[in-house]
Amino acid sequence: MDLRVGKSKKLEGQIKVPGDKSISHRAVILGSLAKGPTKIKNFLMGADCLSTIECLRAMGIEFNQVDGSAIIVNGRGLRGLREPEDILNVGNSGTTIRLMTGLLAGQPFLSILTGDSSIRKRPMGRVTEPLKEMGASISGRQNATLAPLAIQGGPLRPIKFVSPVASAQVKSAILLAGLYAKAQTTVWEPHKSRDHTERMLAYLGAEIEVRDRVVKISGSTSLEGKPVEVPGDISSAAFFMVAAAIVPGSQLRINRVGINPTRTGIIDALGSMGADITIINEDVVNEEPVGDIVVRGGGLRGTVLEGALIPRLIDEIPVLTVAAALAQGETIIRDATELKVKETNRISTMAAELRKMGVEIKEQSDGMVVNGGAVLKGAFCDSHDDHRVAMSIAVAGLMAEGETVIKNRECINVSFPGFEKLLKKLVT
Ligand code: S3P
Repeated sequence: MDLRVGKSKKLEGQIKVPGDKSISHRAVILGSLAKGPTKIKNFLMGADCLSTIECLRAMGIEFNQVDGSAIIVNGRGLRGLREPEDILNVGNSGTTIRLMTGLLAGQPFLSILTGDSSIRKRPMGRVTEPLKEMGASISGRQNATLAPLAIQGGPLRPIKFVSPVASAQVKSAILLAGLYAKAQTTVWEPHKSRDHTERMLAYLGAEIEVRDRVVKISGSTSLEGKPVEVPGDISSAAFFMVAAAIVPGSQLRINRVGINPTRTGIIDALGSMGADITIINEDVVNEEPVGDIVVRGGGLRGTVLEGALIPRLIDEIPVLTVAAALAQGETIIRDATELKVKETNRISTMAAELRKMGVEIKEQSDGMVVNGGAVLKGAFCDSHDDHRVAMSIAVAGLMAEGETVIKNRECINVSFPGFEKLLKKLVT
């Protein structure tokens, strides 16, 4: 089905976005491993997080839905999972397959993980190699670098792992396996990636030490179920932040969004482009900072996005290319090769779609150069079945002359059910 977007005069109002995808995954995984119930408020009922629930259900975990977005996970302790009877399907979710691979490496049974055609192209060696080093037996296509993956778990050895990539999925997979190792496991990463796993492990009582880019976890500690509130997802809020920043005269407030410093690169990037953004009502829930984000529309200028900032806004680069197209001057994005191994190659999918709307973009091996000051025209675009590409193009459509049509919009459900309704509510 198509998503159709017209030019907007301005965005105005107050909204809440659905719960954070990364934190929702971790809440159900770690809640399953804890002793007793964990009630999760504002859980993201998106396709990716539902895939994680289905995998855990297949291993004997019970979930009860309390109301719209509140669920209870009935944790069975670290050793409470059962061998799944069938193949576990992660759908489109990279977080599910990588975190599950880490978790399953420590289980005394066989499991097989697969996913959709995008998942079966994404690199898995980054998790299977260190997990094999810890003693798990993992096989899969191309020497266990591509799904489907078959994992025979068992007792694990702790390792000191130096990750070649700043990836929270890799770090989290090793930390989950580390819970099942006999002593302390260490993970070092080149730049700090999102640290939701570390925060939730600490909240539920694990023995974990974090010092800048080094995390140490002790094996065999037990976790206790506790109430969790999932903050609004800053990666979902980003679409509306950019929309309000690029449409002059807009004023938008997004309430109770997660503002963990490992995720606020979008605020820093838009700030460096001259956007007017303030944070109010700061609070902390289950070790995660939250706040209300207020954005006012106005002129933007080009910027450079690189280095340690990249992992802090990796999922927001598609929508930042839209901001860059409408800013004055050039925007350079570098050190972002990871974009090539997301749900799609987001350097080429974003460049292809924005070009259809009249934007000049040069693709580089580790990023792109976006020529600002574009006059956007509505076009027939494609989501490439990538949720963030679909929503980014929808945001671009708000500033384009004529209608923008986005083919294959269903993928938006992966992370942001209700996106279109919210957009319609705000736009005049
Ligand atoms: C995620 C980590 C990031 C991010 C993804 C979610 C997570 O991926 O892009 O959307 O929840 O751990 P990488 O770990 O591959 O960087």
